[in-house]
Amino acid sequence: MAAPPSHCPALPSTLPRTGPATRTGPPPTANRPAPPSLLAAGTERDPYPLYRVLRERHPLVYDERFGAWLVSKYADVRAALADPRLVAVPPGRTLAHLEGGTHSAHRAVVSPAFRGAALAALTAGVARTAYVLARRLADRQEADLVAEFCEWLPTAAAVAALGLPYEDTARVQAWCRTGLGHLGGHHPDLDTFLRPHIARRRCHPGADLLSALCTARADGRPLSDEAVVGLAGSVLGAGGEATARGLASFLANLLDHPGQLGVVRVRPALTAGAWAESLRRDPPLHVVLRRAVEPVGAIPVGATVACLVGSAGRDPARFADPDRYDAFRTDPGQLAYGSGRHFCPGTLLARLTAEHGLRALLTVLPDLRWVPGFRPTPEGLISRSPRSLPVRLR
Ligand code: HEM
Repeated sequence: MAAPPSHCPALPSTLPRTGPATRTGPPPTANRPAPPSLLAAGTERDPYPLYRVLRERHPLVYDERFGAWLVSKYADVRAALADPRLVAVPPGRTLAHLEGGTHSAHRAVVSPAFRGAALAALTAGVARTAYVLARRLADRQEADLVAEFCEWLPTAAAVAALGLPYEDTARVQAWCRTGLGHLGGHHPDLDTFLRPHIARRRCHPGADLLSALCTARADGRPLSDEAVVGLAGSVLGAGGEATARGLASFLANLLDHPGQLGVVRVRPALTAGAWAESLRRDPPLHVVLRRAVEPVGAIPVGATVACLVGSAGRDPARFADPDRYDAFRTDPGQLAYGSGRHFCPGTLLARLTAEHGLRALLTVLPDLRWVPGFRPTPEGLISRSPRSLPVRLR
């Protein structure tokens, strides 16, 4: 068995040091009760009781129904995400599905769009859009913040990053709701939509990310149209889905804690911490998948591994009182953006979107509060957030 790498200190604590198996699951068990499954009834509604049982009694276990090994403790999730023996799950053509030299080369093309001057330009657009969206609600008595704010703002930011027309935001937003997942980054209509834009950028490149992708060279060659669509899909999917979900949970956490919201309102410098805390407690992506290309303890080659990011954020061995939302928590370290070579390159844009989104809402709609009797209900097993946030605006 290959020794665990030195950068991966946590895995050996949990993973049994058995020899490599040949199936993707563990050897069959005779009379042992089946361990709990992610697909058990009720888990999608409330996964936290299952996460607790997994962390305490089955920190590494094969989930027969889900078809993957479950890793649930904070230290193990963090180590697994960064372990080179556990790679992105094919098939897929987005950045998150690539590995090795191609992954590094494509990542080097995308990452500069989310830092420095490029990020500053994007942020100015996000701030403007946040105020436009908030002002649209200003004359109303009530609104649903998910449908009318959270789903729009991050999509508009991603569309702007790529230099696509603002008018297409609605189309992209609709795709995000029907399959353009954060890491899948693919929708049947995406190719058709992007190809003419790509053809134009190939002839007349501008200063946007799509132009950068069209003119970039990876492994010494220009990126194919298919690769450009895949990378653009990663950005649109991420902007459209994960950030929208993260923003919905963030607003839900703050509206649920009016005292903390009041402090953040008068001390905007605390917003970044409040956002990170929401990502810890309620990450938009609860499960990130990997596939073993080498045996890792009991995990055999070819097996799928589900890194339970949602469980990691609630691990009491890492976070005190982990179920509580505490905007002023001083021990950051959430894993919502992943870890290691696939670590999300959009973290700054996501944070700035949340900060400007909150600021615009609090400025334009100072009386924002729940519709009486409403309590947010997060939903979803892989991606998770409240579906609606009905609020009183005046
Ligand atoms: C709250 C918001 C976000 C969350 C929670 C999030 C989460 C993640 C996670 C967990 C990964 C790693 C997946 C893996 O390890 O396989 C990832 C990768 C990625 N994210 Fe995000 N993300 C967010 C926002 C964004 C934004 C705003 C963008 C860009 C517009 C973005 C672009 C990407 C890309 C391109 C990758 C693939 C990176 C790679 O494989 O090297 N994300 N994200």
